[in-house]
Amino acid sequence: MDKKVTVVGAGNVGATAAQRLAEKELADVVLIDVVQGLPQGKALDLQEAAAVEKHDARLTGANSYDDSKGSDIVIITAGLPRKPGMSRGDLLNRNAGILKSVTEQIAPLSPDAILIVVSNPLDAMCHVALETSGFPKNRVMGMAGVLDSARFRAFIAMELSVSVENTHAFVLGGHGKTMVPLPRYCTVAGIPITEMMPKERVNAIVERTRKAGAEIVGLLKTGSAYYAPASAAVEMAEAVLKDKKKILPCAAYLDGEYGIRDLFLGVPVKLGSSGIEEIIEVKLTEKEHAALRKSAEAVRELVESLKTIEP
Ligand code: NAI
Ligand code: 2OP
Repeated sequence: MDKKVTVVGAGNVGATAAQRLAEKELADVVLIDVVQGLPQGKALDLQEAAAVEKHDARLTGANSYDDSKGSDIVIITAGLPRKPGMSRGDLLNRNAGILKSVTEQIAPLSPDAILIVVSNPLDAMCHVALETSGFPKNRVMGMAGVLDSARFRAFIAMELSVSVENTHAFVLGGHGKTMVPLPRYCTVAGIPITEMMPKERVNAIVERTRKAGAEIVGLLKTGSAYYAPASAAVEMAEAVLKDKKKILPCAAYLDGEYGIRDLFLGVPVKLGSSGIEEIIEVKLTEKEHAALRKSAEAVRELVESLKTIEP
């Protein structure tokens, strides 16, 4: 392949993302993890599946960063997953240290790369990646909105027994309890869902979307979701690799957009070969805007508490 994507963290999300990237022939994939043998074993296993899956992507596993040199995209999934009863905030201290160390090693070897952060707490980890890499803000982004919107779409399709391909949904804000699903902008074949189901059902779907990550944690018990998160990260990578100019909800560094400054938050962006090429400002009602501000405050609180972490 003429493109290279490094996936840091060869756990559930990372390995699944590597699989999807290779099977879609989007890029050669370098899988990196601190656990000896893990990325090498998973990369080799995936490479051996290539004959059956019919792709020619090369997969390499490593514990050092040498093979990541010159990556077009780096997807960072390294960290600890959320366990039952654990909030995303509980992960803050451990994962901030991991993000810093990963970014310090990645950035000098791939100075032109686009960073897609997946590790939680998502919006706060994007700040660590931006500050540590020194990359411009258009080349550092977080994956959450694509996942949250995909979950919203799955629930709409299940509720109405329609093809999920007919659905469209938008979720803004931080990746957490304060996320802001926007039913007004959710449609089925162009028809607003508010015209297709009673208000109580819309509210129930909104609530399920907010708790969707915790629902999976409750079922799996030993970890968090990874199939849909990997798909979401790969959709973002594909938009960049193919310069698709695709509008997707991503965690982006806001510099006054939506009246919010110096903060990563989930908003619709245009993704192309330079990363975030535009932040789309959709019209919000006063109530929606208040919910977005509340979500921003929750993210800012986490980011502020990051400053108290020992280096
Ligand atoms: P996992 O535990 O299966 O994999 C994490 C991997 O990171 C492990 O293999 C671990 O050895 C590795 N790792 C730890 N420290 C490292 C370091 N310094 N360098 C390289 N690798 C390192 O966890 P999973 O399920 O893959 O989740 C990964 C992260 O993504 C978690 O923080 C999780 O909360 C987050 N996540 C975020 C989502 C989102 O919507 N943004 C969705 C799903 C997961
Ligand atoms: C999720 O939403 C754990 O953030 C992850 O599934």
